[in-house]
Amino acid sequence: MLFGKKKDFKCTIANTGETFEVPGKINLLQAALNAGIKWPCDCKVGSCGTCRCILKEGKVKALNDFAYVLDGDMLKKGYVLACQSQLKSDLVVEVDFEQGAIENMKMT
Ligand code: FES
Repeated sequence: MLFGKKKDFKCTIANTGETFEVPGKINLLQAALNAGIKWPCDCKVGSCGTCRCILKEGKVKALNDFAYVLDGDMLKKGYVLACQSQLKSDLVVEVDFEQGAIENMKMT
């Protein structure tokens, strides 16, 4: 029996078809990087927004409020920050591998 052990989940990246395991205690971004996926990231502490992805299926627990970095439109579209997400179920996400930090995106 494995009492106290957090459950492991699986994440599928819809736009590449890649799938990787997410051990219960680590966040989505860390699990992706451990699996060798070139997930966009910068700060890894929930302040730049680079690791954002769209949650298509499944549930995450936010380790920090996403609203500090993501605006209302993004939250409505289902964006979450991978570095601040712990999985509560298997996930399907969409990652924009070409994206930059949110500050860069707004400078048009
Ligand atoms: S890597 Fe900066 S918010 Fe996640």
